[in-house]
Amino acid sequence: MDKIESTAKPVLPFDRIGGREPIQRMVDRFYDLMESEPDFAELRAMHAADLSPMRESLTDFLMAWMGGPRDWFEKRPGACVMSAHRALEGMNYATATQWVLAMQQAAKDTIPSDPDFVDNMVAAFASMSKAMAANAGKGDSH
Ligand code: HEM
Repeated sequence: MDKIESTAKPVLPFDRIGGREPIQRMVDRFYDLMESEPDFAELRAMHAADLSPMRESLTDFLMAWMGGPRDWFEKRPGACVMSAHRALEGMNYATATQWVLAMQQAAKDTIPSDPDFVDNMVAAFASMSKAMAANAGKGDSH
């Protein structure tokens, strides 16, 4: 059988979502939900009173994670988002689930035109969050 090779460049998630602005909108909705919904109160309690630095940091992280500009990593040489979550007070399966549900709602609300993209992204967040909860309190080594 002939080998089928595509010459088309794969579309980066960063381009598919439409750049930084839609990511910022999703992240803002995520933290707005976290601040207002009683279902996410435990997750909210883990965070600092002022969420504005997180609105910037998570937006920059997700921009790099989706294949866009890597400012988040350049500002934090050697940073690993998985290890950064290990020592967090309150990290467990319940709070990990709250994170995923809040982000799923935020993504559905702000990217209504692309449900496949939302589903794939949320599935990736769900595995990361599950691993974060599984590794909670296990020290800082890789
Ligand atoms: C398992 C569920 C999760 C919980 C409970 C959680 C919780 C937290 C908390 C409490 C902080 C510190 C906030 C503060 O200083 O006020 C934080 C920081 C952060 N989280 Fe999560 N998180 C989770 C999952 C994720 C996932 C899946 C990602 C990436 C897709 C992520 C990306 C980040 C980033 C980028 C920061 C900021 C780090 C920095 O600025 O240095 N988190 N998280």
